Amino acid sequence: MSSGSQRHTDDTGCLTVAGGQIGGDLYFPGDKSISHRVAMLAAIASGTSTIRGYSEGEDCLATLAALNCFGVEYAWNRDILSITGNGLDGLREPAGAIHCGNSGTTMRLLCGLLAAQEFSSTLIGDKSLSGRPMERVAVPLRQMGAEITTSNGCPPLRIDGNPGLGAGRIEIEVASAQVKTAVILAALYADGESSITAPGLLRDHSERMLPLFDCPVQIEGPTTLVSGPAKLQPVEFTVPGDFSAAAFFMVAACLAGKGVTRLMDVGLNPGRTALISLLQNMGARIEVAQHPVGDAEPIGEIHIWPSALTGIEVPAELVVPAIDEFPALCIAAACAQGETTIRGAAELRIKESDRIEAMAVALRSLGVFVETRPDGMNIRGGEINGGRVACAGDHRIAMALSILGLVAKGPLTVTGTECIQTSFPGFRNLLVQAGANIAANSEKGTPYGDQ
Ligand code: S3P
Repeated sequence: MSSGSQRHTDDTGCLTVAGGQIGGDLYFPGDKSISHRVAMLAAIASGTSTIRGYSEGEDCLATLAALNCFGVEYAWNRDILSITGNGLDGLREPAGAIHCGNSGTTMRLLCGLLAAQEFSSTLIGDKSLSGRPMERVAVPLRQMGAEITTSNGCPPLRIDGNPGLGAGRIEIEVASAQVKTAVILAALYADGESSITAPGLLRDHSERMLPLFDCPVQIEGPTTLVSGPAKLQPVEFTVPGDFSAAAFFMVAACLAGKGVTRLMDVGLNPGRTALISLLQNMGARIEVAQHPVGDAEPIGEIHIWPSALTGIEVPAELVVPAIDEFPALCIAAACAQGETTIRGAAELRIKESDRIEAMAVALRSLGVFVETRPDGMNIRGGEINGGRVACAGDHRIAMALSILGLVAKGPLTVTGTECIQTSFPGFRNLLVQAGANIAANSEKGTPYGDQ
């Protein structure tokens, strides 16, 4: 028997965008990365946390469903989510395998949480997640004493809980915030201080959030110091708007804006916002107005004016803090004058899809010149034909390609767009609100199906 989350419909969708001009004040769903984290920490706090703005995308619902399988109760009251944790040792043995759906963050973060339990767990995922690398999270956790078995490096995972995890010095080799957070979660259980180091400018949502749960952490450059066993207090927390959701509208407003477009109340964590610099390097006029310092995360407005873009070489140090924004950046590159070069981004091949390949196939079919390499691609900007493109079941590819319909020479249909539900269920409506022309066939369950 398996429990947890999986998409319960097999209907296909498509989205046809036929021009339009983008503008207005736009609001975004709660940040996906932050939602996963606040749910996991609330699940091991002692008491009930209340959370506003929790992402209602399938990925974050998968995390809630998984936690529920471990005995954690949650309830929605309109848009306020309450999660009741029973303390660090309050998780219970699940009845069956836990289905993490499409969500790599759910699975990798759970590895850290489950490594220290008194019971064993099995984690499974959908087809895409079943092909994603999991040794990267298993390796550092094993150094702490975790017993994690992968299937040729991928899910299904078996985690044989070890309540005696050891604290210590953990050096993570991959630039992955998911892996770092998994190790931080395990370190909350280990007796003593752990020092956790990972390369790259990573999103540090977990580090910023833990003190709110009354669990101090120390940050020394790339190293985070965490002491266990921790005792977490429940929180009242508001999740900021998702920068990675706003990213598509940032590019849309550059390419097809009408006056200024304002993206409101967006999270501005420095480990996430490199797309702003990249677009500015391409010639975009973008201004950021940060709100006075909030609870844990910087939040603000991003103002964008229509701008003529020029191709760039993506600086190596901006690859990690823009890692989820490459599909959106590829769209900007396809419409820019000249060539854009992306290197050092092999991680893109192991996201929800092989994003280098998926983007190259779609862009070429619309008349754009694209060259790929194992670690990146070159995109030469030019005119975009209308047509029909598939999104490889990847929510970010689907949303990025939809934006291209604003500037294509004819209507652009993206097929398989039901995957957008994984992170941004309101994407289509917001695109309409912002000014895009969306064709009437753009509904779930159309006869078109995937290509
Ligand atoms: C995430 C980290 C990134 C990102 C993913 C969410 C997180 O993955 O691509 O969408 O919430 O920590 P990696 O840890 O694999 O870089």
